Amino acid sequence: MGKKLEGAGLRGQVAGETALSTVGKEGKGLTYRGYAIEDLAEKATFEEVAYMLLYGKLPNQDEYDSYTSKLRNYRDLPRELKNVLTAIPKETHPMDVLRTGTSMLGNLEPEGDFTNQNDTADRILAAMPSIMTYWYRASHFGEDIDTLTDHKTMGGQFLSLLTGSEPSDEHIRALDTSLVCYAEHGFNASTFTARTCASTLSDMHSCITAAIGTLRGPLHGGANEAAMEMIERFSSREDANVGVKNMLANKEKIMGFGHAVYSDEDPRNKIVKAWAKKLSSSASNPVIYEVSEEIEKVMSEEKNLFANTDFYMASTYNFLGIPTPIFTPLFVIGRTSGWAANVMEQRADNRIIRPSEEYIGPESATWVDLQDRD
Ligand code: COA
Repeated sequence: MGKKLEGAGLRGQVAGETALSTVGKEGKGLTYRGYAIEDLAEKATFEEVAYMLLYGKLPNQDEYDSYTSKLRNYRDLPRELKNVLTAIPKETHPMDVLRTGTSMLGNLEPEGDFTNQNDTADRILAAMPSIMTYWYRASHFGEDIDTLTDHKTMGGQFLSLLTGSEPSDEHIRALDTSLVCYAEHGFNASTFTARTCASTLSDMHSCITAAIGTLRGPLHGGANEAAMEMIERFSSREDANVGVKNMLANKEKIMGFGHAVYSDEDPRNKIVKAWAKKLSSSASNPVIYEVSEEIEKVMSEEKNLFANTDFYMASTYNFLGIPTPIFTPLFVIGRTSGWAANVMEQRADNRIIRPSEEYIGPESATWVDLQDRD
């Protein structure tokens, strides 16, 4: 052990085919089914993007209306699930709540054979914001909220149920855009987990639950939460400049920087950064944006590392009034569309995923009876 295997972490290796997205491909950048992320973030709602990923094409007006109405009807949660969510303590990490909630939904509404896989995917997607906000309001305020709201978009429903008040159109659009940016991203760790689970012909709830567990870590989706915790430690640009240089000198990783695939920029960063800047102008704590900019500058100058999408997502979500531990669950909500689309794509042309390994253990070992061992 010690020296890293060439291609460790499967970096750069093609592990399968997809028609869902290109990530950092020369001349293409980030695209979902051929559409550039820049266009989608500016023009599409999250529901349009989810439909496109899950059904293969952009919806026309009738399809869009019936899809959004279907998702709205799926917002209600069964009483048994609400009871489980109510029993989860307030101190629990919200990612663990989503993991348990999705798994419980699978107990109550098992997928069975795969003939209704699109309905299963839509149901899980629509239930996610309800699971998160129901638990949050129950555990923090002892409330039993009705999640079956008629908000037009998932972003609007989420913000309204989380805070108990009606969000502005600007806040809804900011959240909506963040979900678009999070929706799909090739064979990243959580998506690959979902596909590996799907390759055993397991059910959709198991695939999504496994993916949530994988997204949770700070090297993946948990980076937006970790970035916020770091940003909040600094009270000014100067403070951030000195603090980040010290962290680098101590060989600490700065969360929200670097990427396993992109080498010079994450195309989602400028989209999310623009939102963070816009929201900062009416925020009560705009210094968070200034500190973020300073950290980005130091990382570029000192390490030649660029901000990934999670970095400015932190200040964006903060300006929307979202508690920091609920940042990564929003990543889950967006990415559930991509995970489910990948599960269906894997099922459509499946072979069980089973890579090989290089054995580095002892050549051979001679058995010694228990009483004779040192
Ligand atoms: N802060 C400080 N140094 C970093 C860094 C960061 N965020 N990201 C990478 N580096 C350094 C590494 O220490 C390494 O230096 P070394 O060669 O001297 O050891 C070098 O850059 C290569 O990084 P490495 O971790 O090998 O890249 P990777 O492809 O294995 O990992 C990430 C990619 C995303 C996991 C990694 O950049 C990271 O941990 N970033 C922070 C977490 C994060 O933001 N995750 C969200 C990704 S969207």
